[in-house]
Amino acid sequence: MASRTTPPPRRAPGRPVGSVTRGTTNPNRLRRMDRWIAATHGAALRRAGDPVAVDLGYGAAPWTAVELLARLREAAPRVRVVGIEIEPDRVAGAKPYEREGLSFRHGGFEVPLDGPGGGERPALIRAANVLRQYDEEQVASVWARLRGRLAPDGLLVEGTCDEIGRRHVWVALGPEGPRTVTFATRLGSLDRPSDLAERLPKALIHRNVPGEPVWAFLRDFDRAWAAAAPYASYGARQRWIRTARALAGDWPLADGPGRWRQGELTVRWEALRPTG
Ligand SMILES: C[S@@+](CC[C@H](N)C(=O)[O-])C[C@H]1O[C@@H](n2cnc3c(N)ncnc32)[C@H](O)[C@@H]1O
Repeated sequence: MASRTTPPPRRAPGRPVGSVTRGTTNPNRLRRMDRWIAATHGAALRRAGDPVAVDLGYGAAPWTAVELLARLREAAPRVRVVGIEIEPDRVAGAKPYEREGLSFRHGGFEVPLDGPGGGERPALIRAANVLRQYDEEQVASVWARLRGRLAPDGLLVEGTCDEIGRRHVWVALGPEGPRTVTFATRLGSLDRPSDLAERLPKALIHRNVPGEPVWAFLRDFDRAWAAAAPYASYGARQRWIRTARALAGDWPLADGPGRWRQGELTVRWEALRPTG
């Protein structure tokens, strides 16, 4: 459990906000998140005049930024991706991969972009597997700082996954605050939905205890999955869809069968917001 006394990340003048952490990454690790962003935020990216998407904390190699560009361009051909890393050697290592629409720069939670006063406002900030290495108490201030950098209809996606991207949980936030929590998994690898608990984002992972909404949600998710066991003979996807339909009776889901078929399920943040 995180220390209660940890202050929010600060910046010495001229230094990026935040701390260097482990750079673990993998090709194709974030495909589920990329696909969801393209599907749910593609229209907003298309509407924007000159959309910029930030891959914040892309890690020891630039694969996730390269892939984000390719997947977003299928939905929004004019989008540009800027990879931002707090560790300078990782920026130098990524520079050879720059190309039209893709650049890398040194920075932190201040999200430095071109232009005066911190620069242009990104239509998307994606921070994957970054906040897991910070303290729970720092999350609210980091979220507020990142939200404050977004374009008016911009989106912040912050979450966590396993090494090869089979299990993912992320929070999506607008400039006004958190909106949704998405659970995404390779269904063939799932014993039960609460397998995803170990990938909860920092804001929720310490709250998976009795009395907290996320714990009750995962309990109900597992129960619905167990009740849907007869559908397993039609495949894990049919079982997941049946599970989602049952959950929708008690929890405010924000998506439907089209996304459930992908092994996703999105619930409104208000329903999972930690107590106190
Ligand atoms: C575990 S890696 C994640 C890499 C990639 N996003 C992925 O999911 O595969 C976390 C990276 O975030 C970087 N990082 C941590 N805090 C940061 C900050 N405040 N601003 C930019 N990068 C940061 C670390 O230096 C590290 O390279």
